[in-house]
Amino acid sequence: MKNLLSMEHLSNEEILHILDRAKAFENGEEPKTARTYNVANLFFEPSTRTKTSFEMAERKVGCTVIPFDAGFSSAVKGETMYDTVKTLEMIGIDAVVIRAEEDEYYNELLEGINVAVINAGDGAGQHPSQCLLDLYTIKKEFGTFDGLNVTIVGDISHSRVAKSNATALAKLGANVRFLCPQDWAGDFEAYHSWDEVLEDSDVIMLLRIQHERHTVSKSFSKESYHEQYGLTPKREKMMKSSAIIMHPAPVNRDVEIADELVECERSRIFQQVRNGVYTRMAIVETILKGRE
Ligand code: NCD
Repeated sequence: MKNLLSMEHLSNEEILHILDRAKAFENGEEPKTARTYNVANLFFEPSTRTKTSFEMAERKVGCTVIPFDAGFSSAVKGETMYDTVKTLEMIGIDAVVIRAEEDEYYNELLEGINVAVINAGDGAGQHPSQCLLDLYTIKKEFGTFDGLNVTIVGDISHSRVAKSNATALAKLGANVRFLCPQDWAGDFEAYHSWDEVLEDSDVIMLLRIQHERHTVSKSFSKESYHEQYGLTPKREKMMKSSAIIMHPAPVNRDVEIADELVECERSRIFQQVRNGVYTRMAIVETILKGRE
């Protein structure tokens, strides 16, 4: 693997290799790269978890992290993504992790760029590192994906997390269902009532409403969204005893999930964040080794 752009490009073997390496890192294994690599994280959209987690992972696999502040970069002066990345390549960067608001921004980097590109989120397109850490979290819990009922709830059409997970989980044998208002179903078939999915879900994955990607705002008050599509304490009590709650975060408490459930026993929301570091170590190692 030379880049990580979309879950659509990964075979099951490649996915399982990354999950195995994440497990090895969680068990304390040392990374296996041939030299010290220089990496930069280019975040043109806000991020707390993904950016910090990549930086931690890069340091743990022995990379030198070269600071890059998108808001003070020449992108603000109109420089193209291609020219920015080519410039970093000439300076000696080996890999870039990029988050940008344009879907498939990476297409302009496919030719003429020799640094590795890791997609940390492209608009409403894909978010492969989040997907891989979600898969790692699910595999750790259930040991398999085969036959699991995974219900993704919320703003499906604007969510790169939903799309990445839908692609990958289906390939791995899970039964992926969606629960959302019809306007947010996009190309997916969706349920519109919790009654249809609540009691047989093994995983309930909640999503934040992606207000920044809405062109027409759907008229939901926080209260009415919570009432119709939020995970409330009453609904949580109806979940299977073995079922878990996931959310890529940031969480809007009392909108997609009740405040008191964020750290409840079956919530894996903060464990996902921890798992993200091991998974991103595996991603960075795999990509850098893929170029050795
Ligand atoms: C997600 C994202 O940026 O797509 N966050 C993340 O990376 N953990 C989800 C979101 O912003 O709602």
